[in-house]
Amino acid sequence: VTEVRFRAEGGPSACGPTVATDVVVGPGVLARLEDLLLERLPRARRLLLVVDEGVAREDVAGRWPARWPAPWGREPGSLALVPAGEDAKTRDVHARLEDAVLARGITRDDAVVAVGGGAVLDVAGYAAATARRGVPWVAVPTSVVAQADAALGGKTAINHRRGKNLLGAFHAPVLVVADVSTLATLPMRDRVAGLAEVYKAGVAGDPLLREALASRGAAGDDAWWTDAVARALTVKARLVALDPRDESVRRRLNYGHTVGHALETALGNEAMRHGEAVAIGMGVAGRVALARGLVDDAFLEEQDRALVRLGLPVRVPDAAPLDRLMEGVSSDKKRRSGERHTMVLPTGSGLAIVEDVDEREIRVAIAERLERRAARGAAPGAAGEDR
Ligand SMILES: NC(=O)c1ccc[n+]([C@@H]2O[C@H](COP(=O)([O-])OP(=O)(O)OC[C@H]3O[C@@H](n4cnc5c(N)ncnc54)[C@H](O)[C@@H]3O)[C@@H](O)[C@H]2O)c1
Ligand SMILES: [Zn+2]
Repeated sequence: VTEVRFRAEGGPSACGPTVATDVVVGPGVLARLEDLLLERLPRARRLLLVVDEGVAREDVAGRWPARWPAPWGREPGSLALVPAGEDAKTRDVHARLEDAVLARGITRDDAVVAVGGGAVLDVAGYAAATARRGVPWVAVPTSVVAQADAALGGKTAINHRRGKNLLGAFHAPVLVVADVSTLATLPMRDRVAGLAEVYKAGVAGDPLLREALASRGAAGDDAWWTDAVARALTVKARLVALDPRDESVRRRLNYGHTVGHALETALGNEAMRHGEAVAIGMGVAGRVALARGLVDDAFLEEQDRALVRLGLPVRVPDAAPLDRLMEGVSSDKKRRSGERHTMVLPTGSGLAIVEDVDEREIRVAIAERLERRAARGAAPGAAGEDR
């Protein structure tokens, strides 16, 4: 299996106008982390390795084929363990990482290296943005969401009690090392959920990726993952270069996220993974687009078929009360004004940001995509796309 390498220009940065991100995707690339890092930052002397506690374990990272961390990861003060998942995205952890950057004497020649899921990358990247007004950082994403989405683009953040990702900075990593063989230890459900973001990238700008997912599903070998992750990152890199600060075209990557976020909030992470919610959200957005004549039935059928084939849900679960969902849609931070909602809708040839979606259109689309309705309408052909 060959690896994929490319350079993403124009990432937003706290240290300068923009930064280039070297991206390396492939099986076993983690074993070359140190070489890749010194290639990109030849003057690096000190590193701070920030590792997700959920992956540092013997039964997780201990099972990855690559030997790591490299020797420098074992120098005193060079390792900071952080809690797994959203528990990492707090002011406490952020402050502790800033302390560690200063204690370790990391300069602009050096780097913070973050290993783990998207949450750990978000907080480590944010500490790299704020300590010393910005030091370089390297992302070593180990979950599908982190590899295909979170690692690239420079959005770094922690959570606030008022909401997710409300404190943060734009600070792109100088290097992304996405080792797809690390995904083997990720629970199947999480691996599949992350594929929603891959499909989203396909709709946003890679028809071949969309076709591959629709026709082959998740083949799951190293070559397949390398291709899927690299293609998703390539699409994201293009949008980030055009719109580093997420003010225009980059927001197309919010496809499926308006209703997705509302579902996540209404049902909680145990009942519904982020990616699963996004898959359902793409279905609702697709239905809104269909009603507006932006796409035809065939588009939505193909999307449903592809997502189901990947193992993702596409129907709004009964358990999600419509009124609570609509509350979630209304408090979505992507909303711009009044009762009109901003939504990313498919157009057949890509995605468009539509600013005048009426609340009623969303309600109708959700009702149309309800699980109950699909079951009731199980007459031949009526819900055929669900299988
Ligand atoms: N900055 C961005 O552009 C961006 C984009 C998408 C998501 N995000 C953020 O990323 C987070 C979600 O990322 P996530 O889905 O990776 O979840 P996560 O970071 O919460 O990780 C989920 C769990 O998977 C574990 N894990 C990670 N890799 C593993 C592996 N290889 N084997 C076994 N377990 C592993 C982690 O320890 C954690 O317990 C959210 O906080 C979200 O806001 C950021
Ligand atoms: Zn997402």
